[in-house]
Amino acid sequence: MEIKIESADREDFLEMIELADLTMPDRMNLHELKKYFELFPDLIFKATHNNRLVGFSCAGIDMYQTTGWLLFSNVIEEYRGRGIGKKLIQVRLQVLQQFQALEQVLVTVNASNTASICALQSAGFEMNRMENDYYGPGKHRNIMRLAVATSASRNITEPPVITAVGFHYFRIIRKDRP
Ligand SMILES: CC(C)(COP(=O)(O)OP(=O)(O)OC[C@H]1O[C@@H](n2cnc3c(N)ncnc32)[C@H](O)[C@@H]1OP(=O)(O)O)[C@@H](O)C(=O)NCCC(=O)NCCS
Repeated sequence: MEIKIESADREDFLEMIELADLTMPDRMNLHELKKYFELFPDLIFKATHNNRLVGFSCAGIDMYQTTGWLLFSNVIEEYRGRGIGKKLIQVRLQVLQQFQALEQVLVTVNASNTASICALQSAGFEMNRMENDYYGPGKHRNIMRLAVATSASRNITEPPVITAVGFHYFRIIRKDRP
């Protein structure tokens, strides 16, 4: 099955919102996604199959560019368990690692979200801390963390980045580059 992983565009916006409404309506909404497109346009990726959107993911980075965040990821149910979620993690990590000052990547996880935790663990993330009452009394959040090697020991290359799903390789096309 040929799954393409590539940068998402603003034109994908409506399809992305429809998909997020199916998978995580309480986590992603129109305002949130618009914000991500404003702040981190090069950190949003989509997975397509025969031009159909089957998943997407967003990442961000703090203002000091030392901490990257995996902000959201989803794959439609019938396409889950085929490695797409893991590829969406990898592509975001590849792009975040182009930031010279990057020290770590964090992600908020729900302790009961086994698929998400498994995918993050395969990418090297470890449980880091629980922030009590973060979402209000009794509503905690868990954070997983991936430490990133110093830029000197990292292979910082110019995007585009190459990634793969299954046996098919795809070029990640950056909107700002020819
Ligand atoms: C989390 C999610 C994006 C993972 O996508 P995916 O394409 O199914 O992920 P992968 O196929 O790459 O599988 C990731 C890992 O989870 C495991 N996994 C997949 N579905 C699973 C399930 N239902 N139960 C347990 N483990 C599962 C896979 O075996 C794999 O682990 P492995 O590397 O040890 O084999 C997808 O399940 C999803 O969209 N969930 C709803 C939205 C969500 O929870 N998003 C994350 C928070 S923003």
